[in-house]
Amino acid sequence: MSKPDKDQSAQSVLDRVLVLEMVRVTEAAAIAASSLIGRGDEKAADAAAVEAMRLAFDDLYMDGTVVIGEGERDEAPMLYIGEKVGGAPGKGPKIDIALDPLEGTTITAKAGPNSLAVLAAAEEGNLLNAPDTYMDKIAIGPGYPDGVISLEKSVTQNVKDLAEAKGVPASAIMACVLDRPRHADIIEELRSLGAGVTLIGDGDVAGIIATTDEDTNIDIYMGQGGAPEGVLAAAALRCVGGQMNGRLVFRNDDERKRAAKWGIKDLDRIYKLEDLASGDCIFAATGVTDGSLLGGVKRLRRPMGMVMTTDSVVMRASSGTVRWVKGEHRLT
Ligand code: FBP
Repeated sequence: MSKPDKDQSAQSVLDRVLVLEMVRVTEAAAIAASSLIGRGDEKAADAAAVEAMRLAFDDLYMDGTVVIGEGERDEAPMLYIGEKVGGAPGKGPKIDIALDPLEGTTITAKAGPNSLAVLAAAEEGNLLNAPDTYMDKIAIGPGYPDGVISLEKSVTQNVKDLAEAKGVPASAIMACVLDRPRHADIIEELRSLGAGVTLIGDGDVAGIIATTDEDTNIDIYMGQGGAPEGVLAAAALRCVGGQMNGRLVFRNDDERKRAAKWGIKDLDRIYKLEDLASGDCIFAATGVTDGSLLGGVKRLRRPMGMVMTTDSVVMRASSGTVRWVKGEHRLT
C-alpha cells in the first residue's frame, strides 16, 4: 500500500494519521497534570496540562486552529481561541480543534474521580464555536428513538419518555447531575418521580459520556455546565451514538457580546447533537485521575525502570470506531 500523500484531503488525514496521533496529545497533557494530583493547586495542574498539550500538537502534520480552548487571546497565554497549532501551518490539512487539557481542575487538585485531558478534532467549520458561557444540557446514550429527550420538554416529561422507551418505570431511571445549588429544582423534580440522581462534583464531559456506558447505570445527563465542555461531549456522542440538546445560557451582556463575536445570532437556539459537532470528527481523552470512563495516570515500577501508565480512548464519528489505548511511558 502506498504511503499517504502529504497533500491528501482533510477527510483522509483524519482517517489515516490523526486519529491515533491525537492520543499522544491527550496522553502528554494527562501525564503532565498527574504530577499535581492532590496538590491543591488547580492553576498549576491546568498550566502543566496546557503546556504539554501545546507542545505535543507540534508533532502532528496539520494546520490546526483552536476553536474551543483556554479562553480568548488576552485571557490565555497558550491554546487560546484562534491559536494555530500543529506542525504544518499553511501546508497540512485544516483541522479545527476543541480542547480542554485538564477537564476537572478542581478534581485534580483534590485527587477526586473523573478528571480527563480531552480534545475533539474535526474538519474546518464542523465544531460549534461556543463562547465560554454556561449551557443547558440533556443527553442520553444510543439506542433510543430520535427526540425521546429534548430541552423543550420538562424534566418530568423527559424522564417519563425515556422510561417508556426503555420499558421501565420512571423510578428506574438514574440521572447524572452536577452538584450545584442551581440544580436544586431539577434534583427535586427527579426525586419526586422516584428517579435516582448521581451527583458529580465536577466533570460533565465524563458525566455525559457515562450515559453511553451501561456499566455506569446512568441513563440520562441533565443540567447546566460549561458550553465548551458541551461541544467536547457532543463530539464523543457523535462517535458512539446518543442524543444531546444544548442551549447557551447568558448571565450578562458581556457574555451575549461574546456570543455575537462568534457569529451566534439566535441566543435561545436549542442545538442538537449535529449542530454542536458535525461531519467526521475525532474525540480523544486520557484519564488523569481514575474515573468511570478511564483509569488515571499511574507511576509503576517495571523491570526496565519506572514508567507512567496512561489509559486513553480515541473515537471517530465516520466509522464509529472506538479504540482503548493503554500506554506505558518510560521515565527519562
Ligand atoms: P474545569 O476543569 O474548568 O474546572 O471545569 C470543570 C467543570 O465541572 C466542567 O466539567 C463543567 O462543565 C463546569 O466545570 C461547570 O461549571 P461550574 O463549576 O461553574 O458549575
